[in-house]
Formats: sequence, C-alpha cells, structure tokens
Amino acid sequence: MKRRVAILISGRGSNMAALIEAAAAQDFPAEIAVVISNRGDAGGLETAKASGIPTVTIESKPFGKDRAAFEAVLEPVLDRYKVDLICLAGFMRLFTAEFVRRWYGRMLNIHPSLLPLFPGLDPHGQALRAGVKISGATVHFVIPETDAGPILMQGAVAVRDDDTPETLAARVLEVEHRIYPDALRLLASDQTRLEGDICKIVGFAGSNDTPR
Ligand code: GRF
Repeated sequence: MKRRVAILISGRGSNMAALIEAAAAQDFPAEIAVVISNRGDAGGLETAKASGIPTVTIESKPFGKDRAAFEAVLEPVLDRYKVDLICLAGFMRLFTAEFVRRWYGRMLNIHPSLLPLFPGLDPHGQALRAGVKISGATVHFVIPETDAGPILMQGAVAVRDDDTPETLAARVLEVEHRIYPDALRLLASDQTRLEGDICKIVGFAGSNDTPR
C-alpha cells in the first residue's frame, strides 16, 4: 500500500513539483494525496492542479498567530485525504508543539543549508557571510524547534567565490529536487529508523563517504 502524502506549500512549489513527479512512478512507495497551501496566491497550486492533484487552500492570515486555530482547520483536511505523511515544501508557517509531536516521525521539511548550520531566514546569505566552501540542503524530520530535527538526507554543492545568494540558491535548489524525493522514498518504504536525535537508514551499511 502506498503511503498517502500531503505536501504543504506557501509559494512557487518547485520542491512540491519534484515530489509529484517522483511519485508518478509506479514503483514509488508514496502517492501525493493532496497539496495544501496557506495562501491562495501560491504559484504551486496551479502546478499541482495541472498534475491532477487535489488542492486545498486554508488562508492562514485571518488566524494571525493563533496556530492552534489554523491546525483545527488543517487536521480535518488531513483526515479527509487519509494522510499518512506530511512533506513541508516552502511552507512558511509554524506549528504548535502539540501538532508537531502528533506528526513526529511522519512529517518532513527541507531547508536549503547543511543543517545544523544556518537555520532560519536567508540561509544562503548566512552561508556566504560565513565564508563556507560547501553548502547544500537538508531533509529532516520536523520537531518543535525550527529547521532542526533528525536529518534524513543531505546533499552538498561547492560555494564559489563569485556566488550571490541567488546563484547559490539556484544550485542548491537542484540538489533539493533530487534529495527530497529520495528522502520521501526512504521514509515511505520504512527504511528509516529514529534513534533519539539521529535518523538511521535501515540496511545502509555502506560508507558515509558516498555523496547522495
Ligand atoms: C526551498 O528552498 C526550500 O528549501 C525552502 O523554501 C524553498 C521553497 O521553494 N524551505 P519551492 O517553493 O519548493 O520552490
């Protein structure tokens, strides 16, 4: 049985599109049951519709900082679409710790830096200001702390001397589109095991030198 996934977006949804494309393969262990946006003007909604994926918009603005009230509307949608797993893909809204705990081990996020470095806003600017020579992207399980949680997969790119936040973002985005589907495949096929703060890949006995 394929795992049923909700992708939550707020914007253009390029990671969402990568997940939809990967999940279209017959042997992919998950299907995209619904795309949910907290903004009616998210560009990703049209992309999802064009792929025949049901979309739901729950405008979050009227809820202000009342996260629990937003989640009280979100939960029944997740139930209605019988969602097993959540993928946050550029979803710009925080959850209550209670919601996060309920979905612990079943909710992923992607962040465009090699966490735990550079969480939060402007990760590419942070990377350039720190002068790192390698940056990348991280898929991690969501915990109440923002841009933290057991790391499922990372991918790296070299940082160039002439990089701007925009050029670095573009190269990292290519990595994101590769690793997010790979990470979801691992989770949906029960190949991940959480040991405290660490995510292990079941059956992965190889060297960690192998870049993914
Ligand atoms: C990506 O860089 C993702 O890592 C971050 O927000 C951006 C969303 O881009 N969390 P997109 O909407 O998937 O194109």
